[in-house]
Amino acid sequence: MMADAVLSVEDLIVQYDTASGPARAVDRVSFTLGQGERLGLIGESGSGKTTMGTALMRLTRAPGRIVGGRVMLGGTDIMALSQRDLRAVRLRDIAMIPQGAMSSLNPVLRIRVQIEDAIHAHEGRLPKPEMAARIATLLTRVGLDPVVADRFPHELSGGMKQRTVMAIATALSPKVIVADEPTSALDVVVQRQVMQTLGRLQSGLGAAVVLIGHDMGLIAQFADTVGVMYAGRLVEIGPVAQMIAAPRHPYTRLLIDSLPGIDAKRRLTGIPGLPPRLTDMPPGCAFAPRCPLATASCTASIPALQTVASGHRAACHLYPGLPALPPLTAKAAP
Ligand SMILES: Nc1ncnc2c1ncn2[C@@H]1O[C@H](COP(=O)(O)OP(=O)(O)OP(=O)(O)O)[C@@H](O)[C@H]1O
Ligand SMILES: [Mg+2]
Repeated sequence: MMADAVLSVEDLIVQYDTASGPARAVDRVSFTLGQGERLGLIGESGSGKTTMGTALMRLTRAPGRIVGGRVMLGGTDIMALSQRDLRAVRLRDIAMIPQGAMSSLNPVLRIRVQIEDAIHAHEGRLPKPEMAARIATLLTRVGLDPVVADRFPHELSGGMKQRTVMAIATALSPKVIVADEPTSALDVVVQRQVMQTLGRLQSGLGAAVVLIGHDMGLIAQFADTVGVMYAGRLVEIGPVAQMIAAPRHPYTRLLIDSLPGIDAKRRLTGIPGLPPRLTDMPPGCAFAPRCPLATASCTASIPALQTVASGHRAACHLYPGLPALPPLTAKAAP
């Protein structure tokens, strides 16, 4: 475990009990987040990113439940907290910008009231001028005019709403911010601006950020470290430059190759085939059925996340035998 880890996750398992059986949407995920670190978490739709992010704050709702593992926020064991202590920790120590956050703003309350509510819950009532000044600072910090405080959500653009949600999430200067696809509903220009604001907020607060997304380009511009999820499992995690230049997991390689590049010849092809159903996981490595390099050992056991280079881990049976990944051609759909 990293000495200055602000968040450490060990063998986290989150399961949905569904009609077709238990689905492990997060399956033994472990990672640590250093102070001020920016971790980008990427994976296809349904790979378990939101389930993981939500579980970090123990906000998992039925039919989902956390069935195993540990989440340590600094020295605090999140799993051991009472509901009351959990409420105190949320927002103050760890805050979430949920997926589709824009629509989570209360439509009938002015922005000012929504920010006040967040602060009141933790600090009690503040004198009016102090509260007004605080709200103005929070809004300015996310690039909004303080007059926004007196508006209703429907009077704001998508980008402004997203910034408002960021102002609320950071109202108590949390040490960890989990941002779940904060720009997915925005156009490309606004996306970039909101990401810059998130970056400035992060460095201003010295907070660590878990940025969830499926756009490797956007994630790579922001993150120090990139983690890749596949069918509920963390299959690779490492420094962003290494992850782009020398990914070790075949899935990461194909994911990066499928990005539209500067090279016009590289087409956005995607990876043939589909991720497995969580209620019907293949034996061994979940990616084996789509992996061009799969061998018999890949279906025999689930590969553990192991160190492949400094600060870089991959869950793949090719290692430690393989020094680097050869060029890959995606396998035809199984
Ligand atoms: N309430 C639920 N009941 C049953 N299964 C669920 C529930 N919520 C999520 N799942 C399943 O858990 C898996 C992971 O879902 P999750 O929302 O975490 O994925 P994600 O990576 O965030 O996807 P996206 O990129 O689309 O947001 C999916 O297979 C999904 O079908
Ligand atoms: Mg999601």
